[in-house]
Amino acid sequence: MKILLLSGSPRKNGNSSAMADAFTAGAQSAGHEVVRFDVGRMDIAGCQGCEYCHVQGEGQCVQQDDMQDIYPHLADCDMIVFASAVYYWTLTAQMQAALHRFYAIGKPAKATKFAMLLSSGSPGVYDAINSQIKSAFDFMGIEIVGVITSNGEENKSPAKLEECRALGASL
Ligand SMILES: Cc1cc2nc3c(=O)[nH]c(=O)nc-3n(C[C@H](O)[C@H](O)[C@H](O)COP(=O)(O)O)c2cc1C
Repeated sequence: MKILLLSGSPRKNGNSSAMADAFTAGAQSAGHEVVRFDVGRMDIAGCQGCEYCHVQGEGQCVQQDDMQDIYPHLADCDMIVFASAVYYWTLTAQMQAALHRFYAIGKPAKATKFAMLLSSGSPGVYDAINSQIKSAFDFMGIEIVGVITSNGEENKSPAKLEECRALGASL
């Protein structure tokens, strides 16, 4: 299975990045291919709502930024994974920008599974993200197969990283 992992924190060796690393190790041990983009540190603008993609672009986004590197993988991956810090009870702005840019293609052609790895400072801050992601991936016809959250002292703990690794290995 080809897994597209988008990591949304701007922090290079941060907590959600460690969750992504552990998930990747597990998935690779099970024979899956993981293609990762650290969208938190890429040049990906928000959607402009120009509708070029739907009117004359045939699914191509008019904005020529780093999202163009991701679109081919979005088209042929079997699974999508988001790893993100929680910022103000939602995904980081960078992660949101990448998600909003899915609009150009509508529904990823092959992906049937989705998982999410979230890191926060406090517990109990995930309702808005879970609600948004459930609606968005239901709309895309993609099943959510796992959500792992980590907060406070759980961040980068061996137990939490093992949970992430095990999710990847279970696929
Ligand atoms: C701008 C900003 C907003 C944040 N908002 C929240 C929040 O709403 N709830 C929370 O529990 N933690 C919040 N945090 C803390 C981060 O989610 C937490 O430090 C997380 O572990 C960072 O993950 P990272 O190392 O992958 O970037 C915020 C941090 C920043 C910088």
